[in-house]
Amino acid sequence: MTYAYPLLEPVSRPMPRRIGVVGAGTIGPDIAYYLKSALPTLELVLLDVRPSAIDAALARLRGYADKAVARGKMNADDATATLSGLTGSTDYGALAGCDWVIEAATEDLALKRRIFADVEARVTPGTLITSNTSSLPAARIFAGLARPERATVTHFFAPAWRNPAVEVIDWPALDRGVLAWLRRFFAETGKLPLVTSDAACFMLDRVFDNWCNDAALLLDSATAAQVDAVAQEFVHAGPFFVLNLANGNPIIIETNTLQADEEGEHYRPAPIFASVQQWKTAAPGQRVDVPTQTAKAVRERLLGVLWSQTVDILDRGIGSAADLDLGCRVALGFKAGPLELMEQAGDDAVAKVLGHYAMQRPGMPMPQRPLADYRPTERHVLVDRLDDVVVITLRRPEALNALHDAMTDDILRVIRRHETDPSVAGFVITGYGTKAFCAGADIGRFPTLLGNADGAAQYARDCSRLLVHLDTATKPVVAAINGMALGGGFEMAMRCHALVAHRRAWLQLPEVSLGILPAIGAMAVPFRRWNSASATFQRMLTTAARLRASEANEAGIVAELADGIDDLMARACAQVRLLARGGVPPRPGDGPVPLPAFPPFEGRAADGRVVSAAVVRLIEQGVRDAAAAPSLAAALEVGYRAFGEVACTPAAREGIQAFMERRNPDFTATG
Ligand code: COA
Repeated sequence: MTYAYPLLEPVSRPMPRRIGVVGAGTIGPDIAYYLKSALPTLELVLLDVRPSAIDAALARLRGYADKAVARGKMNADDATATLSGLTGSTDYGALAGCDWVIEAATEDLALKRRIFADVEARVTPGTLITSNTSSLPAARIFAGLARPERATVTHFFAPAWRNPAVEVIDWPALDRGVLAWLRRFFAETGKLPLVTSDAACFMLDRVFDNWCNDAALLLDSATAAQVDAVAQEFVHAGPFFVLNLANGNPIIIETNTLQADEEGEHYRPAPIFASVQQWKTAAPGQRVDVPTQTAKAVRERLLGVLWSQTVDILDRGIGSAADLDLGCRVALGFKAGPLELMEQAGDDAVAKVLGHYAMQRPGMPMPQRPLADYRPTERHVLVDRLDDVVVITLRRPEALNALHDAMTDDILRVIRRHETDPSVAGFVITGYGTKAFCAGADIGRFPTLLGNADGAAQYARDCSRLLVHLDTATKPVVAAINGMALGGGFEMAMRCHALVAHRRAWLQLPEVSLGILPAIGAMAVPFRRWNSASATFQRMLTTAARLRASEANEAGIVAELADGIDDLMARACAQVRLLARGGVPPRPGDGPVPLPAFPPFEGRAADGRVVSAAVVRLIEQGVRDAAAAPSLAAALEVGYRAFGEVACTPAAREGIQAFMERRNPDFTATG
């Protein structure tokens, strides 16, 4: 792997035009739906030996598209395009002409080998062949292929049309170009490829299977409902609830038997899996009484298995620390990754839990190094070198790369690490994928700030530490805006020395539609930096109007527009080098700046929704005060304090609550 960020990989293979998916059971059709919604012009054939399964699968996909249209997630034309070019067949001959065949049949090695022999007989030597197995090593599945170098495992997670995680297995026979292409393809089509080695059950199922197996081994001292209730400190749904949903008992028997046969008896599945169909448990969030001692024992045991698997995965190089944390969050529904949990607990507590676990579960893996060695250097950003430019990629796909403290610290740490390195010309900051540069500050933190003016203002000051550092940076930092740049994401870009944007990117300050205001610079910086565009920023602040990249380019805010990600990165790097040669531009100036009058308040956002008059008043006053402030620092301070004020309004409470409840806010009653 040359680059941590897959979209930096240069690849020559074109996008696929025809893909075959073998297996019309549960996950095959979901994979097909993801592919067709990402690439509507793709021809896709769904292959199965059972015509009834194909009919049911095609009906399911029509249902998905109808639901997406009903919920406003897709327009009718896109839905029609998604469903067109989608066919079913019981004949392997239909695979002729495919650029890629994905197998999603039953977890049976002999069956898979037969399927791949049939597939290879019908496709060209260049056709990619991948399996969606969750456990069987690639080396075993593809042992009989004449051309194994074009084959690997691409392991999706349920529901595959929406869950972004895909494990891509790097096994010895795999062609490097195929690996690079797969990573890039997935990143370009909205997925999160996580590269793992070819160990049985790869990375994330080792965590999930053993988490479930240890949960079952606990059933002599707690009920399934109690285990699930305790587990919900760490996951959105407990192991038994998930097993019920996924009909997962036979899978645990199969995968843990595989691990036991290969790696030792300690992995043998709990006997109870063979005799239970459905577990008696409670829905997530439902109250379940758990005696204190039981809760403590269950909690420690669950952490024990989680951390034991974590150190094993890292010691054996099955996956990377940052990918493991992210994969557990995105694919397995953990609230925090296992390494983040280790950090929160502290090394002494982790050592104690693992020591106890070693006694309960002899043979299970234990740390081979000091615990501190296991932590990733950065958890939420990827770091790459493009010659003399350091590229920092924001990677929080579960929240459209929204900024939180840990990510801000990651970015700052990378900049500090390289800013005195003479071989580094400067930095590019970009967002993972093609949809979002950054969806702003993480709204999940906001509820705790409501009603606390000083706390909210201090939060804004603290969040600004990266941006204040950028103001005085000695090496150029360029924002490569690959997709939407909202709120705090746009505020971060504003403090970069130049902005380069993908032609279809857009900028927005949506805070007013959440009943709040942008806290970390947008009320001050743009009026000092692009004063001639003041009216545009006033409109953006008070109506949440979007600014297209082309409009931002015309207004002089965005220096260059790019076509495609390769062009974007090339232009961003060229900007870095230009600024490094010519000198870093000065930060936005001190001294008051002129402002046009705000347009009359119309009560609505650009999208027609009602906004809060009280919030708009605070924004207008803040912008005026910041423009009149005698220094940039004083102007920024105006913004921090205004954020404190807005956090105490009924509108903020309504707006934030509505976002958390996934509904539209109602500001008609809040003022
Ligand atoms: N903070 C935290 N989570 C965020 C986020 C943010 N700023 N922006 C998006 N997310 C999360 C969503 O909650 C969602 O999580 P879920 O899958 O658990 O429900 C996920 O990212 C994907 O977003 P979603 O809303 O499903 O995507 P979409 O394409 O339908 O809509 C946006 C995209 C950006 C329009 C919408 O997410 C949004 O309005 N986000 C808030 C943006 C904002 O106001 N930023 C400024 C904050 S001060």
